[in-house]
Amino acid sequence: MELDEFIRANTKITATALVPEIRLHLATELTPLWHATESYLNQVNIGAPFWAFAWVGGQALARYLLDNPDVVRGLHVVDIGSGGGIVAIAAAMAGADHVTALDIDPVAAMACAVNATLNRVEDRITAAEGDAIGYDFAPYDLILVGDVCYTRGESEDLTHHLRRAAAPVLFGDPGRQFMPRKGIHQVATYTVETSQEIEAKPITEASVWRMVGL
Ligand SMILES: C[S@@+](CC[C@H](N)C(=O)[O-])C[C@H]1O[C@@H](n2cnc3c(N)ncnc32)[C@H](O)[C@@H]1O
Repeated sequence: MELDEFIRANTKITATALVPEIRLHLATELTPLWHATESYLNQVNIGAPFWAFAWVGGQALARYLLDNPDVVRGLHVVDIGSGGGIVAIAAAMAGADHVTALDIDPVAAMACAVNATLNRVEDRITAAEGDAIGYDFAPYDLILVGDVCYTRGESEDLTHHLRRAAAPVLFGDPGRQFMPRKGIHQVATYTVETSQEIEAKPITEASVWRMVGL
């Protein structure tokens, strides 16, 4: 089965309560992916399906961009750790000139492309497979990071790399343990509904943070 067919067959088109403008192919209680065991995913050669959820940090950042289109209008944007693409799609809908959606997982890149088409912004999103750590951010006016700080080593390396970028950086994050605590300024907070499949609580708070000088 082709990757895009796998994504369509194992998800349901759903919108989140916080970002009803964006429809995504997501795992829900009704879809097989929700119940997928690791061995099933291994059989079909698919890694953990982070792309099949709209993470709370990504939902907050997407809401912020849709409500504050001046932040992205006309810009060349990169969304790193793009997953299913909620942040990249919000940036495109809010008027970004072009968005590169970058994810280390090739299935996420495909899911983002499928979701961009679903939301009719495929002409302004390039979904690419790649590692954000070491990535060349020079071509971009704005860097978006939706809920990527969930392991210590990677978060530290990513933060270090982002601090050297010339472009402004916006994070969406619920305050995870490995999010940077210094040199960031909180710009908005949202109450976000989520799934207890991926978070401890069904409703949580997530904020948008701007990286500032240390
Ligand atoms: C928790 S998900 C968030 C997805 C999406 N931004 C959202 O908010 O719904 C984190 C994503 O970051 C990706 N990722 C992790 N490390 C990465 C790296 N070094 N470079 C690019 N993507 C990475 C994962 O593959 C995953 O899709």
